[in-house]
Amino acid sequence: MSTQNSLLQATDLRVNYGSFEVIKGVSLSVKPGESLAIIGPNGAGKTTLFKALTGEVGCRSGKVIFAGKDVTDMPAHVRTIEGMGRTFQVSRVFLEMTALENVVIALETRCRNRGERTGAWWSAAPSAKIIAEATALLDQLGIASLRSETAANLSHGDKKRLELTLALALEPKILMLDEPTAGMAPADRMQIVDVIRQIRKDKGLSLVMTEHDMDVIFSLSESVMVMNYGEVIAAGSVEEVRNNPTVREVYLGKDMYHAAG
Ligand SMILES: Nc1ncnc2c1ncn2[C@@H]1O[C@H](COP(=O)(O)OP(=O)(O)O)[C@@H](O)[C@H]1O
Ligand SMILES: [Mg+2]
Repeated sequence: MSTQNSLLQATDLRVNYGSFEVIKGVSLSVKPGESLAIIGPNGAGKTTLFKALTGEVGCRSGKVIFAGKDVTDMPAHVRTIEGMGRTFQVSRVFLEMTALENVVIALETRCRNRGERTGAWWSAAPSAKIIAEATALLDQLGIASLRSETAANLSHGDKKRLELTLALALEPKILMLDEPTAGMAPADRMQIVDVIRQIRKDKGLSLVMTEHDMDVIFSLSESVMVMNYGEVIAAGSVEEVRNNPTVREVYLGKDMYHAAG
């Protein structure tokens, strides 16, 4: 695995829940602009690996290097400041606030992280510039018309879109998405895919995601890594992985296209 030109690199990560070893020595590397999908059966350890990469769970051993820094011992919020973007869980959206207010808070957080001022010193109100940027972001995600809606009242799909808006508001170097389209209707799913694809094209954003839907993976990722029982059993291009006999066995001979997850 090349250590050069990596934006995100994990080496021999091991994570335990008590005495249960959930991640058993996983290594991966993502180059700037690259998109990696992590797939595997339920319980394979995808979410736990994600949390180890983002800093939400600690590793028993191994190393995570991000943007040239060893972030292994950095907590999640510091990794976010370093440019590791992830979707906020639904619970982290301020449900009693409007969609616009949520995005404004994320933008103000970004400005504060960079030591920039967000509004006039005599006023607690956000600047017109911040409000315009928040509105533009909501528009990009197709939810500008819902800007005054309380987050709690948004549909599941629109909440997912708001979470993505909040992650993008921080202008990350990499976007980490754990099942970004889970529970969405197919039409909503493809709209999210289009948005992410456009943003990747515009900003050269790197992406790491787990996803059940193979259409989404085909649309968004060049590389795929397959996990099973906490280990990487295959990695390569989408086509390579699809034709890999071990992967086929894990999916019990089913067509992976219809059985991933
Ligand atoms: N907080 C936890 N405490 C104990 N075991 C957990 C915890 N979270 C997940 N696990 C277990 O770790 C394994 C991997 O889970 P997870 O990472 O969620 O897999 P995936 O995302 O691939 O479905 C599963 O066996 C799951 O039951
Ligand atoms: Mg999971």
